[in-house]
Amino acid sequence: MSDDGPTCPDRPSGVVSAPGVPPDVVRTSRLILTRSCPEDVDDLTDAVDASLDELAPWMPWAQDPQGTREGTAAFLAETFCKWDAGEEFTYTLRSAEISEVVGHVGLIARIGPGALEIGYWIHSAHAGRGFATEAARALTETGLGLAGIDRTEIHCDEGNVRSARVARGLGYALSETRAYEGDTPGDTGWQQIWTMHRQQFDAQPS
Ligand SMILES: CC(C)(COP(=O)(O)OP(=O)(O)OC[C@H]1O[C@@H](n2cnc3c(N)ncnc32)[C@H](O)[C@@H]1OP(=O)(O)O)[C@@H](O)C(=O)NCCC(=O)NCCS
Repeated sequence: MSDDGPTCPDRPSGVVSAPGVPPDVVRTSRLILTRSCPEDVDDLTDAVDASLDELAPWMPWAQDPQGTREGTAAFLAETFCKWDAGEEFTYTLRSAEISEVVGHVGLIARIGPGALEIGYWIHSAHAGRGFATEAARALTETGLGLAGIDRTEIHCDEGNVRSARVARGLGYALSETRAYEGDTPGDTGWQQIWTMHRQQFDAQPS
């Protein structure tokens, strides 16, 4: 890392750097997921700025429109380091066709051993086209392909119907609805836990 913080290595390489770590590039038919790095700040800030109305109800970090670029830069520096620590694998989501940033997704190691949580948001101009579903499917496959991982989960507020539909559409099972202290305007105080086990995923028709 330089004195100015982490910088991107030569990428994308598409390689797996260590066991238990996903590849830094994941491709789907319409999308390219590349490991997020500090150089993504301008593209991602623009995407967040354009999506604040949809993000603010559900994402704690989207509450302060004034701090978008600064907040995005800090997030990118942090998440870049967390990748190497094996804590969080976040990807900037681009359209394969025009390379435009269409969202941000990640696999997060914060739900105990053997499991990864999947998070996502989509640029408002690109919502409703199945991108969240396509990216979350790719991350489910990627996560469940990692050594030691046999479960992925999607957590969303009960009121976040669009997010729940992504999970349901991918075949995740609603395993729990629990009370939680939400910190965004949309939160109902009830969080849904959607679960996919490796066996269940492998049994799905391809
Ligand atoms: C939730 C979110 C990621 C969905 O992204 P998306 O790319 O539009 O999702 P998809 O196109 O893959 O569609 C998912 C489902 O939502 C439905 N959907 C899409 N746009 C919708 C809309 N405006 N209203 C209602 N349903 C909608 C789709 O029809 C699909 O349901 P189906 O599979 O039953 O047909 C996106 O709306 C978003 O970023 N929201 C704000 C951030 C957020 O809530 N992130 C998740 C936190 S848990």
